[in-house]
Amino acid sequence: MKEKIIKVKLKNSSYTVVVKNNLIKNCARYLKHLDLGKKVLIVSQSKIPKQYQNLLAKTLKYLGYKVFTFNLPTGEKYKDIKSLQKIVNIAIKNKLERNDTFLALGGGVISDLTGFAASIYYRGINFICVPTSFLGMVDAAIGGKTGINMKEGKNLLGTFYQPKIVLIDPTLLKTLSQREFLTGIGEVIKYALLEQTAGKSFQSKSFYQYLTLNKNRILNQEPQSLLDIISHSVEIKAKIVSIDEKESGLRKILNLGHTFAHGIEQAYDYKTYNHGEAVSIGTCFAAKLGYNHGLITKETKDSIIKLVKDYRLPTNLNNKKKINQILTSMLLDKKIQNGNLRFILPYKKIGCVKLVTNISQSEVRKLLSSYN
Ligand SMILES: NC(=O)c1ccc[n+]([C@@H]2O[C@H](COP(=O)([O-])OP(=O)(O)OC[C@H]3O[C@@H](n4cnc5c(N)ncnc54)[C@H](O)[C@@H]3O)[C@@H](O)[C@H]2O)c1
Repeated sequence: MKEKIIKVKLKNSSYTVVVKNNLIKNCARYLKHLDLGKKVLIVSQSKIPKQYQNLLAKTLKYLGYKVFTFNLPTGEKYKDIKSLQKIVNIAIKNKLERNDTFLALGGGVISDLTGFAASIYYRGINFICVPTSFLGMVDAAIGGKTGINMKEGKNLLGTFYQPKIVLIDPTLLKTLSQREFLTGIGEVIKYALLEQTAGKSFQSKSFYQYLTLNKNRILNQEPQSLLDIISHSVEIKAKIVSIDEKESGLRKILNLGHTFAHGIEQAYDYKTYNHGEAVSIGTCFAAKLGYNHGLITKETKDSIIKLVKDYRLPTNLNNKKKINQILTSMLLDKKIQNGNLRFILPYKKIGCVKLVTNISQSEVRKLLSSYN
């Protein structure tokens, strides 16, 4: 299978995303043209197979770099200021300098955290992303949003900081749990719901049709279908980020389902639902809001919820015990303006979305409380 090269075109910091099976074993040709200084710190996680780290370290050493590794425990709760401090301390202890490099080898937790550390260490050093989770490959590793959580809310500290290169090897997904694989589908469905507004189309069919027709191939992780959906998701995100790097306009559409999701994750202490599951529930709430406001038909709403369900993802909260906490947390979201909740909602037909700002807190409470 051939490689897929996708460009994220930016004013000052364009970069390449390479999608290729077994890339981790053959990445020297993509790294050798980059000036990564003299030292590379690989940040990863205890649960991610050591063999990935060893393969990368071997290549980097072969290219002449001194390599350091640091592993964090697994879990969203480690995307915090203490972990940030640990990464920075290791870098200081090993005397990494301004032109050296941090490399994130992991899912979205590791890429958000390591990217944030890279953006503030010596006011910014090189950053490379090698995503290992499905969600990381289709979303988190692309586009330069970095950040950490505070106890009051998710991603409250962060920067926009682009990597030098993103290397995606779908064969790394073989060691990912089924639950974490499905989690990534939560973000893939998001892309299918906004691809037309993003101005991107998928082969001859819509991405939504592709996901509907190829459900079994995708759930069985058939290699070509994985390459297809990773490449197309990255292409959509690259296009959006190239137009609006810092989320002043178009990029806001990527928040479909996310205002709900961040509230849910935070209210449940990042334990009950992982990010993609919370996004799936948020997407279903967005479809219901869209229908309630006359933006989409009942058939479209039902179709979206069915697709989420078909991919074995949650479509509603298991119980309604944390509605107050979810609302409180949603009101702390960065997307709030002048105290008003703002949502990206499906609009007219599948593939199109729009920003809606006139949604009251009582309406959101009613929606969160409903079992339908
Ligand atoms: N920056 C962005 O644009 C962006 C976009 C979407 C999500 N995010 C963030 O990403 C995070 C969620 O990312 P995630 O779903 O990847 O979670 P994660 O990073 O916690 O990874 C999920 C789990 O899978 C394990 N894992 C990862 N790759 C593995 C592999 N190949 N084999 C075995 N185990 C593996 C991890 O150790 C972890 O236990 C959230 O913090 C979210 O806010 C960021």
